[in-house]
Amino acid sequence: MLHLKRDILRRLASKGILIFSAFGLLASTHTMSASIQQPSGEHESVERRVAALLRKMTLAEKVGQMSQRNGSDGYAPDDLGEGLRAGGIGSVINVVDVDVVNELQRIAVEESRLGIPLMVGRDVIHGFKTVMPIPLGQAATWNPALVANASRIAAAEAATAGINWTFAPMIDISRDARWGRIAESLGEDPYLASELAAAMVRGFQGDDLSAIGSIAACAKHFAGYGTSESGRDYATTNVPQNEMRNVHLRPFNAAVDAGVTTLMTSFSDIDGVPGTANEFLLRQVLRDEWGFGGFVVSDWDSVRQLQIHGLTANDRESAYEAITAGVDMEMHGDAYSNHLGALLADGQIDEQLIDDAVSSILRAKFRLGLFEKPYTDPTELPPIASRDALDTAREAALQSVVMLKNDHRVLPLSAGKLTSVAVIGPLADAPYEQLGTWIFDGDPDLSVTPLHAIHSLVGHDIDVRYLRAMANSRSSSTDAFDEAVEIARGSDAVLLFLGEESILSGEAHSRADISLPGAQAELVRRIRDAGKPVVAVIQAGRPLTLTNIVDDVDAILFAWHPGTMGGPAIADLLFGVESPSGKLPATFPRMVGQIPIYYNQKNTGKPPSPDTVVLIDDIDAHAPQLSTGMTAYHLDAGYTPLFAFGHGLSYADFSYSDVRVSADEIAMGETVTVSAELTNDGDVAAEEVVQLYVRDLVGNVTRPVRELKGFKRVFLGPGMTVTVEFDLHTDDLAFYGRNMQLMTEAGDFHVWVGGSSETELRREFRIVDSD
Ligand code: NOJ
Repeated sequence: MLHLKRDILRRLASKGILIFSAFGLLASTHTMSASIQQPSGEHESVERRVAALLRKMTLAEKVGQMSQRNGSDGYAPDDLGEGLRAGGIGSVINVVDVDVVNELQRIAVEESRLGIPLMVGRDVIHGFKTVMPIPLGQAATWNPALVANASRIAAAEAATAGINWTFAPMIDISRDARWGRIAESLGEDPYLASELAAAMVRGFQGDDLSAIGSIAACAKHFAGYGTSESGRDYATTNVPQNEMRNVHLRPFNAAVDAGVTTLMTSFSDIDGVPGTANEFLLRQVLRDEWGFGGFVVSDWDSVRQLQIHGLTANDRESAYEAITAGVDMEMHGDAYSNHLGALLADGQIDEQLIDDAVSSILRAKFRLGLFEKPYTDPTELPPIASRDALDTAREAALQSVVMLKNDHRVLPLSAGKLTSVAVIGPLADAPYEQLGTWIFDGDPDLSVTPLHAIHSLVGHDIDVRYLRAMANSRSSSTDAFDEAVEIARGSDAVLLFLGEESILSGEAHSRADISLPGAQAELVRRIRDAGKPVVAVIQAGRPLTLTNIVDDVDAILFAWHPGTMGGPAIADLLFGVESPSGKLPATFPRMVGQIPIYYNQKNTGKPPSPDTVVLIDDIDAHAPQLSTGMTAYHLDAGYTPLFAFGHGLSYADFSYSDVRVSADEIAMGETVTVSAELTNDGDVAAEEVVQLYVRDLVGNVTRPVRELKGFKRVFLGPGMTVTVEFDLHTDDLAFYGRNMQLMTEAGDFHVWVGGSSETELRREFRIVDSD
């Protein structure tokens, strides 16, 4: 039973959750809205300093600022020293020893002619030593304040190593779970990803970029990278401009509005012009339309890769394409250092191009306060894995877990009613695997595994019987399955820890089959036959196709890769100390062939419905041509997903009713308030993510069948009902039309409020043109 404890209330209030109890609204915090706004005096002084420094620079020094060098193993400071002394390096990547970083800064500052400090970059994607859930898991929290806090902690830990620039957040919209990098993404929805992208930027950068513990963020990969063909990483992307603007660019726009310091280009070919040479994206959209004042870095060697793409014939042409497109700094490559000088000398590029790039890089360094404070003193920062860091990691893991099913309320388990529980599977006690992809610096020694946490929580009351059963998630050996069944038979309930090891997702780790790998489905079937309640806890870097096991388990907790404190979070959920509250940030297909499958699709001219679907086994043998309804579905999969975007169950009984709009008709420029009653009919206090969806019925380009337009995480005591409200301004309904201009059109709208994208509670309103 969950109670409204005072400390829980405080914790929730500090994490952006609306709290309701018998006493009504107890606390509420809104998502932080402060983007980094430089006071105008400070802005002018930075601009003056940039201009003054630029005037003193030689061409070689300018090109140096535009070059980032790899400082990882094999590159001792001595190797970089010469370049630094000559002013030939503006940034290093992958140096994480604070003494080495300080020495590199010392050489740059004290031994180079102009003393310009270094940007020190690192992929701090979801934590540094303390690892938060993978970004896709963080997205499942639907909690911007918590996500900002997680990024803030990652920034402070990374700063202890002298890192002042992270290559995060990764905000490519992904609707393809085969793509290994979906793990790093914030899911399929532009609105959710935009809110969380801005939160991550605020978290990494803080209110003041020069403050101790703030580091520069980098929104990546600009743009469309998440649409790689068949989910193969680095493969071609083809995104029509209207979809690019209405879907893929929106989180980037939000990151820019939140003050992100840098952007990284995409590796991929986009409609024939790879991201690193894409002038349309980097100049027209980013600079001209959005007024971005930060700088753009290429991806790893992606300037030189323009030749491999077949866009250029050599490195010189690649440097030309990248600089003219708007890439300010080359990550790990030498096309700029070798060729920009000659391109200028031969009159192929204007020096203004170089000056603009260098100015944006210097601006970032001034704003980071590096000229005033180039060196790092780790003792000025919180210790690694502080109480706050571990508590935040645990809270983030807790809110990220999505309960996909819970038949017969098998969960939560009641320690008082059980005498024994079987804990079986390759991911019950895998400290490294639970951290997920992109954890260069993550410390598996800090991990608390589910097995460990279950022992701590209930081990003194019930007998916890553990068997790994498989060497790893990919193992095809069934040798240990008999013993697993034996243990299951002798226990009151079985907890199966399944999923993917961390190596199966992430960059260059795409899969064509996204079901549970190895012999895991066979393990599920064997355990099912033991006749005990079976709960699957699945850790993975992507949505999986669970069709072949879903009916063989009673409950599923989908935990993504939950990070350092995944174990305690999972144990608390299993035994009812906490209630699940995560919601899916990406659709779970029934079969891989349904991909791309996402909730905010277009209607088509022949939308499917339950009446039109005839599945392959039901086709009338005598009149096959008459069998199907001629609509947009698969004969073998229908048209619905296994689990929809926004889905996620709770131990509470939440019900929605009485969706209302404040007006049936509003004028352009006005706001309509949409509200609904949310009731907790159960006897458990819990959190629910209330979601608002809209459909614009007729548009000058076709509009999605539903679009998320708002969400609120609400904590509701047992037996309580609250009214949850959303304000929708007509600007919130704007989209890019045929002429690629952002606009809201007058007309009719449907609006839904509920606990997932499948909610049916609907109202209508109309926007009329104001005179
Ligand atoms: C390549 C990846 O695409 C990018 O996301 C990352 O930041 C760089 N490598 C640096 O590690």
